[in-house]
Amino acid sequence: MIRTMLKTVIPKSVRVATRVVSAVAIALACASAHTVEAEDGATRRSDDRIDLWALTAAPPLGLPAVDGPSPARAAIDLGRRLFFDRRLSFNGTLSCAMCHVPEQGFTQHDVATPVGFGGASVRRNAPSLYNVAYRPRLFHDGREGSLALQVWSPLLAANEMANPSIGYVVERIASLPDYAGTFERAFGAPPDVVNVGSAIAAYERALLSGDSPFDRWYFAGDAAAVTASARRGFELFVSSGCAACHRVGPERALFTDDGYHDTGIGYDRALRPQSVSRVQLAPGVTVVLASAAPVPTSSDVGRYEITQDPADRWRYRTPSLRNVALTAPYMHDGSLATLADVVDFYARGGVAHDGLDPLIRPLKLTSRDEADLVAFLESLTGSNVAALTADARSVPIGDP
Ligand code: HEC
Ligand code: HEC
Repeated sequence: MIRTMLKTVIPKSVRVATRVVSAVAIALACASAHTVEAEDGATRRSDDRIDLWALTAAPPLGLPAVDGPSPARAAIDLGRRLFFDRRLSFNGTLSCAMCHVPEQGFTQHDVATPVGFGGASVRRNAPSLYNVAYRPRLFHDGREGSLALQVWSPLLAANEMANPSIGYVVERIASLPDYAGTFERAFGAPPDVVNVGSAIAAYERALLSGDSPFDRWYFAGDAAAVTASARRGFELFVSSGCAACHRVGPERALFTDDGYHDTGIGYDRALRPQSVSRVQLAPGVTVVLASAAPVPTSSDVGRYEITQDPADRWRYRTPSLRNVALTAPYMHDGSLATLADVVDFYARGGVAHDGLDPLIRPLKLTSRDEADLVAFLESLTGSNVAALTADARSVPIGDP
């Protein structure tokens, strides 16, 4: 499967090189060696065939070109190591990959919102990092514009990786013997505030995933790539207005408008009048209070926190829907567990209140329509997700 993908998206010269590397890898594997030494000194497992650098140079079917120059291979390899390194958190317990788990769609399935430093809960759902290269703004509220700068938010947040300062992190990395020479090879300089971010961003930019059954049908004309149910689901996706926000272009699709909208999820969490509220007095001891007034259960007001414009209250960034079948639970607070729940939520018209986006309104969908919409969403899983996961685990995790 991976080889077929390489054939369709990667220029011939690269393919030939890949084939040579695979041949060497197979030879080494036969000689019972499990690793290959790449030209930049990085070690890869021999069964690891995806080339992240080639992927950024030629993204899979359905995806646009990535802006900006392709990062060096050495930068991608270094970023991958940092991404998995638990020593980057203050007490050495948390890596980026523990909230953005490769086997779980680069997000976390078990919990609606991940648990960070010392058991502290993070207030929002961890977005998947597939195709994050295309996001002009990062986070559910769009508060960051650069992947290389974004890394400092989790590294320094008290409830995430909890480091005391930027300098602390840079000095720590510089002191780890297994990183000796790696920054010099990738960036020609020792670790600093800029290149730590650039390395992690280089790896994240390469997590491109397309060439899904939908892409092969819609963009490459292979009618057999998707089921009749998924095709019907796509028609409903367009006719129900979903594509107004989750956009599909004539030659490629990111399934987002990169805008911010109020679907009612944030309002629901914060202010929907609750008839009863449960108050925990001590572990295991709760009392139920009947209350007439709304009880706010969340202080999250979305995009408003960044713009202070009241119109932005409870607006969140439109997520891409690529690989969405792999990235449950859904919405900024992880409050919807399955794709069927999400479709059902839209069918009911979101949560009605002042400020609800006018495009969100009750839809007349039969249960077959809802199943078809889910089948369409499930057809958006890229062909290389297993290869990206294998690649992620191809280097030793940076535990001491
Ligand atoms: C404790 C869990 C946790 C850890 C550890 C963590 N993240 Fe995240 N990450 C999140 C959550 C939650 C969000 C969304 C926060 C928000 O929108 O306010 C997020 C958002 C992001 C985004 C924005 C994605 C988008 O689509 O906008 C990127 C990129 C990212 N994280 C990368 C990283 C990197 C790199 C590291 C390690 C340096 C890291 N994360 C560590 C939980 C975590
Ligand atoms: C007005 C713009 C808009 C329309 C119309 C819209 N969406 Fe969304 N969609 C969003 C936003 C914004 C979110 C994120 C909400 C949040 O994080 O709380 C979202 C989230 C989702 C998610 C969850 C993705 C994830 O990773 O959490 C799915 C699935 C989805 N939409 C599918 C659909 C379908 C199917 C339709 C049509 C029935 C639709 N959307 C219509 C804006 C829209």
